Amino acid sequence: MSKRRPMLACEPAPSPEEERPQPGTLAGDVLAGLSATPKRLSSKYFYDAQGSRLFERIMRLPSYYPTRVEARMLRRHARDLLHALAPTGAAVELLELGSGDGRKTLALCRAWLKAGASLSYRPMDISAQALDRLGQRMAKQLPDLAVHPLCGDYFQTWPIPRAGRHQVALFLGSNLGNFAETEAVRFLRRVRAHLRAGDSLLLGLDLRKDPHTVLAAYNDPEGVTAAFNLNLLRRLNRELGMDFALDAFRHYASYCPLQGVARSFLVSQAAQAVHSTVLGTGFHFARGEVIYTEQSQKYDQAAVQSLTAQSGFAVHSWFEDPELPYALVACRALG
Ligand SMILES: C[S@@+](CC[C@H](N)C(=O)[O-])C[C@H]1O[C@@H](n2cnc3c(N)ncnc32)[C@H](O)[C@@H]1O
Repeated sequence: MSKRRPMLACEPAPSPEEERPQPGTLAGDVLAGLSATPKRLSSKYFYDAQGSRLFERIMRLPSYYPTRVEARMLRRHARDLLHALAPTGAAVELLELGSGDGRKTLALCRAWLKAGASLSYRPMDISAQALDRLGQRMAKQLPDLAVHPLCGDYFQTWPIPRAGRHQVALFLGSNLGNFAETEAVRFLRRVRAHLRAGDSLLLGLDLRKDPHTVLAAYNDPEGVTAAFNLNLLRRLNRELGMDFALDAFRHYASYCPLQGVARSFLVSQAAQAVHSTVLGTGFHFARGEVIYTEQSQKYDQAAVQSLTAQSGFAVHSWFEDPELPYALVACRALG
């Protein structure tokens, strides 16, 4: 790190280990990711204020079907989901992981309150801006709902569950697909460890479908996904003192129907070097070299059964959209 705090005479010098930016921090993850082959940046760093706004625009794009399909499924199956996820009459604590602006969940909460559920809502997100917008929307549209937002990384922090409430964890938007299989199992095990036996988990998962439909969702002609991907470099320029020239990188999306994975990249348009004043180091890019920024796994039923079984959950109910393959999967935490 080049920016050092002045050292007091009696203070021991920090060890090289203490000096190195830690994994799980922006600096540590970027240093490791841009030093790796192929270069990688974690998709969790997309969501600064501008990234969250751009993602809200992506969700409104005609080609970005996951939001539209999931929203209509949550509306259509709201009552069945309540029966599948919560024992009759129990007070429910709804914990949403990576809630974003919570627009889809609002409709679910409204339907559950209408069905007489005793409900409180705990959205959790690393984006303070997304949580602010969620809070304003909920206060305006569902003023009677108790909302307790928590800003943090779900790999590092977790709210203390309130006694006497049935916990329902929500992980929507096919966000699980952003993890490779081992990471998805690690994530689900972490969720399971924070629930009690009999508590519930609802997953919204994109399923395998026509590759053209999938690819179009990550490659919109309006260029919003490209702006979202490139905004990651703008964030690194601002927060890590980097000097990425944004017009020297281009968004590229692919879909592999054999693996069922959509991937997003930033492609270097020239041989170039990029430096970070905060990391005190630079990175070389060959012409055509990529930074791998996001994966979006598309599932089938067998893959979902396997992930949940490895993580201490049993699939209770499976809801599938009749028009476009997408699933809402209600799971129970096993004892
Ligand atoms: C693809 S958006 C989906 C938002 C919402 N779940 C939906 O379905 O519309 C992913 C959200 O997860 C949040 N997020 C990503 N990584 C996170 C992490 N490690 N901890 C908490 N939130 C995270 C982002 O800030 C963003 O709001």
